[in-house]
Amino acid sequence: MLVSAKEMLTKAKAGKYAVGQFNINNLEWTKAILQTAEELKSPVILGVSEGAGKYMCGYTTVVGMVNGMLNELGITVPVALHLDHGSYDGAMACINAGFSSVMFDGSHYPIEENIAKTKELIAICDEKGISLEAEVGAIGGEEDGVVGNGEVADPNECKMIADLGVTMLAAGIGNIHGKYPENWAGLSFETLDAIQQLTGEMPLVLHGGTGIPADMIQKAISLGVSKINVNTECQIAFAEATRKYIEAGKDLSGKGFDPRKLLADGTAAIKATVKEKMELFGSVGKA
Ligand code: 13P
Repeated sequence: MLVSAKEMLTKAKAGKYAVGQFNINNLEWTKAILQTAEELKSPVILGVSEGAGKYMCGYTTVVGMVNGMLNELGITVPVALHLDHGSYDGAMACINAGFSSVMFDGSHYPIEENIAKTKELIAICDEKGISLEAEVGAIGGEEDGVVGNGEVADPNECKMIADLGVTMLAAGIGNIHGKYPENWAGLSFETLDAIQQLTGEMPLVLHGGTGIPADMIQKAISLGVSKINVNTECQIAFAEATRKYIEAGKDLSGKGFDPRKLLADGTAAIKATVKEKMELFGSVGKA
């Protein structure tokens, strides 16, 4: 059964480790992440962006697939199904479809509007036992080939949103989605420290987990980060392994064109990436 992310993140914050959010794109992705979490006895959060939700034929299809897998694979570790960077309408659609966790990303709104919309969603999520992630300070990333530096959140605005009663809070601390540019200034630990001082027990979320060096990840966890999102790194691992399979001509040998064979190496590469991250985040054996 899907669970809210609240308990797993409260435990992670207290135990000074982080739970990984791994974004899913299809059946292979989902299966690889769930199997790895079960093998390593780690709690896990499956992230679904609005785009990925559309790609997978809508939120109810995603809920059906994930619930089916929890059952068929005999998953015993805590699993949350979470909307990533949701709009207000997207969050409502996921709540109604059976997600156990949603993110409302109001970071592009003026703070008053972010607060008003987050508040409305808190009331709905609380009633249904669904965890809610809010965001302050937009996470940068590559757009139209231009890489923007991540915004740095205002710690006082973070406190305002945290005090509303959200489950977890994503705050921009110079992190960005996708690969980091060579001249990236790194994470702003000063900001993270200030945010944690003001928000106390609130589990903090680090987006853009791809390519952040291990020492920065560990320092971020020591300063209150208890959920780390990873997407691009799994995509790159999948693509590289699949390319190697094709370049080696394996699809041309025997029944190597069978999608169950064609996608097997890529799926194994996702599992290896997820395992590496769970070990780095310290969530292994915490289920
Ligand atoms: P990356 O794609 O950089 O790993 O970021 C993932 C993320 O933060 C999803 O919200």
